Amino acid sequence: MIPQSFIEELRMHSDIESVVSSYVQLKRRGRILVGLCPFHSEKTGSFTVYPESQSFYCFGCGAGGDVIGFIRRIENLEYVEAIKLLAQRAGMTVPEDAAEDRTAMLKTRILEMNREAARFYYDRLIEPAGEPALRYLLGRGLLPKTIKHFGLGYAPAQWSALTDMLAKKGFKYEEMEAACLARKGRNGGYYDVFRDRVMFPIIDLRGNVIGFGGRKMTGDGPKYYNSPDTPVFKKTKNLFALNFAKKNGKLPYLILCEGYMDVISMHQAGFTQAVASLGTSLTSDQCRLAAAYTDEAILAYDSDEAGQKATRRAIGLLDEAGIHSRVLSIPEAKDPDEFIKKFGGGKFKQLIEGSAGAVEYELGKIGAKYETDTPEGKIMALKEAVNLLAEMKNPLEREVWAAKLAADYGTTKEGILSQVTAKLRRKARAENQRTSPAAVRAAYSDIIPEKVKNPAAAAAEERLLGAMLRNPEAFGSLSGKISGSDFVCALYRRIYESAMNAAAMGYELSLSVFGEGFSLEEQNVIARLFTVARESHYTEADALDAAAAMKKLREKKTDEEIAGLSGNELSAYIEKIRREKSGK
Ligand code: UTP
Ligand code: MN
Repeated sequence: MIPQSFIEELRMHSDIESVVSSYVQLKRRGRILVGLCPFHSEKTGSFTVYPESQSFYCFGCGAGGDVIGFIRRIENLEYVEAIKLLAQRAGMTVPEDAAEDRTAMLKTRILEMNREAARFYYDRLIEPAGEPALRYLLGRGLLPKTIKHFGLGYAPAQWSALTDMLAKKGFKYEEMEAACLARKGRNGGYYDVFRDRVMFPIIDLRGNVIGFGGRKMTGDGPKYYNSPDTPVFKKTKNLFALNFAKKNGKLPYLILCEGYMDVISMHQAGFTQAVASLGTSLTSDQCRLAAAYTDEAILAYDSDEAGQKATRRAIGLLDEAGIHSRVLSIPEAKDPDEFIKKFGGGKFKQLIEGSAGAVEYELGKIGAKYETDTPEGKIMALKEAVNLLAEMKNPLEREVWAAKLAADYGTTKEGILSQVTAKLRRKARAENQRTSPAAVRAAYSDIIPEKVKNPAAAAAEERLLGAMLRNPEAFGSLSGKISGSDFVCALYRRIYESAMNAAAMGYELSLSVFGEGFSLEEQNVIARLFTVARESHYTEADALDAAAAMKKLREKKTDEEIAGLSGNELSAYIEKIRREKSGK
């Protein structure tokens, strides 16, 4: 456990506005700041930062918390790791025993092993046993300096070359297994996962080796084997070579392609903005990651059917992340690597400069799909084109394309635009439903299951907590009036008890008090309580009033409780209610 006093000090040195600003572009609106939520995709900002309470809350997706919760979410870190990162940023040292956190330790060990492994594979490449691998890479046109730059290597054709080396360095077999570098065999011994493969280390933006891709040089079966997800590696959240592509400041564009070899060939030919999704189809997380570095992507996927399908999918995902796409068609080669090898970097540059805009490309495809010289074909094509236009954010861009379509299909621009508007309205309605308060509430039903059956009690508890959190001076007047056992909702009881404890210890009441013992989902709920309390201007009187309401609801028995009463108890209960109703 990290002492709360340290957390408090860290919080003072980690202003939420400046921390969030390095990830999200914020606009000031009076006492709050607003921006596009980094935790869900949206086009208008519902992500709000409250400097006064040092908290954030998104009215779209319900994510909320303090500066630590923000870092945990955005950097995908455990609690203790987030603290460490913030401490590093603030130039503070985390008290020693914090390092005991088991997953943080394991992650550090895995990163150490990966680094050792990358060095080991690299060294094997230049030994006699690695000659076939070196020949393979050189044969594919890579220069020695490229091999070195990317840290490519060779995993020997032995069962335990790497595991033996790591064991000698003091790593445990369980740790190697967690890193997915070793696997347990049937006889109980461990063996190397990567054998007789050319190795591509995957490096994150901080320079850590987080995983590997390994390519077979001969034989059947899958060509590449990639590290599966480990505690330090999430395939869907990283882009291969982004560490090399990244410069200070925004890049004019990134080139997105399918494979390791495509990226490496492009970098060698001078196109150092090339990155690849890691053996998976592009994900929205990867698009958001890319959006931090550029506003434009050039899609350089394979020229086969699968590549074209992936291209069209990528255009939509990138657009959602605010990235404009251009599409590269690669003639007479199956992928960028082959093209560069066949025709050279100069020709590839021409391809890039001439790459069709994504819209032109899509419209061309739609036109080719239907018989547009028949009325039916025209209608079908226009319908699809309208969908495409509805994806565009800029109304001017929509007008330009509508005019072009009108000319091409012999119809009017106004007609097309009115279809687009109708489509946009339908989309907006669907979007609203997804992120409405009702949807957020529904998402909470797993976390606060009691709320469904006891909405009135839950509401009173929310009001009590909100009023307390906003008016810490209410703690004194509440003591004796209410206790944990008066709560129906277990989560609210825990929040109440933590708040009481913090108050008793003399801590300032902030979201940070609810750090370690609460999950991120639970912290969303707490941030929401704070936000509602702030917007409703809850006072100490509200706290007292809510406490009274809770007590009263508590006395009213539930149907199940009534069913369990004996005859005498039941008459007494009915009598009591009657007295209450008659105002006595
Ligand atoms: P490709 O099959 O297009 O391979 O897969 P490539 O990049 O052209 O490979 P080379 O040029 O033959 O070496 C594209 C990407 O898909 C993933 C890899 O990330 C690869 O770079 N992939 C492919 C796998 O993960 N496993 C496979 O078996 C094949
Ligand atoms: Mn290839």
